Amino acid sequence: MNIDYQLLSPQLRRTQPLEKDIELGFGQLRTDHIFLMDFQNGEWVHPRIVPYQNLQLAPGAMALHYGQSIFEGAKAFLHQDNEIYTFRLDKNCERLNQSAEILSMPQLPVEMQLNAINALLDVERLWIPTTLGASMYIRPFMFATDDSLSVRPSSSYTFAVMLSPSGAYYAKGMDKSLKLLITQKYHRAVSGGTGAAKAAGNYAASLRAQQYASSVGADQVLYLDATNAYLEEVGAMNHFHITRTGELVIPEFTDTILKSITSQSILSLSNELQTVCGLTPVQRKISISSFLNDIQNGDIIEAGGFGTAAVTASVGHYILDNGEHYTVGTGEIGSKTKLLNQYYSDLQQGRQNAPANWLMPV
Ligand code: PLP
Ligand code: COI
Repeated sequence: MNIDYQLLSPQLRRTQPLEKDIELGFGQLRTDHIFLMDFQNGEWVHPRIVPYQNLQLAPGAMALHYGQSIFEGAKAFLHQDNEIYTFRLDKNCERLNQSAEILSMPQLPVEMQLNAINALLDVERLWIPTTLGASMYIRPFMFATDDSLSVRPSSSYTFAVMLSPSGAYYAKGMDKSLKLLITQKYHRAVSGGTGAAKAAGNYAASLRAQQYASSVGADQVLYLDATNAYLEEVGAMNHFHITRTGELVIPEFTDTILKSITSQSILSLSNELQTVCGLTPVQRKISISSFLNDIQNGDIIEAGGFGTAAVTASVGHYILDNGEHYTVGTGEIGSKTKLLNQYYSDLQQGRQNAPANWLMPV
């Protein structure tokens, strides 16, 4: 892939590394450039890196009307050897293609996605945060650009990558546990729908439920399946709980749950997690009745969420539509969740050995 760098703006390029004490937040900062590439006449064409700027879009662009729009979220870290490493980026590229398939959008070869992201990261090297634990959040996205009001798959698309030097997703971070609302009023996805895709519309559809959660004092929603029988996932994370017997349980992936790369990584680190925190990661269907029962009888001792942005979040409380309240253990961040978060962060940041090819230098 021959990337056009001619539009790159030399005067915008940083000449100094990002300041150590800069206030990062999550997803707030932008770097100087974005990557863009178009899909026209059945081909990906004109890969280019240009200054970060507003995009030109026809008012009838189909992404705006019918929602053909998907995205990914990945991270790159500055390691002690002063190199930048992406973490499991190939998995994000594969998942973008799975989302594309669900939304009838074109495939974009993983190799092309990797080249695009690495090229942009290379140009924006000096934007990588140097603060411990911070990262470069990578946001690839693809959207439909045909100017058409017919409901059909668009024939033209744009693929873009933007970067955001970021700190923790939840301001509370691992300092305080979250409270989740378990509701029967709203659902994130139904079988046969788009729940397994990282589609923009899934997030738009979650906002009403999120507002409802805030109104009852909860931080996020833990969604149930459409029959209100089984736990699914949180708005921007997979869910997990830890049992007294040392199981780390993640709800089984179905077509209504986003296949979290963090969850998949945790599931494949079974031996390591046994050694580090005495946990055996497993997946199964979890009924809401057994879940609440097990919290009450003390069989569930910790809970939380997994996701790229959040890494590990701890959940201490659940609240139901009728106001019933359940506290997991003491309600504070559990010791095993802390160990898990530390181990996974160490692995991403190069302080623990990661499995082969999980970390790739830019
Ligand atoms: N579930 C949803 C709905 C998400 O938005 C995310 C975030 O990406 C996740 C789960 C976690 O997935 P991953 O670990 O791949 O970031
Ligand atoms: C991520 O964890 O990378 C996400 O994309 C979640 C996001 C909706 C903030």
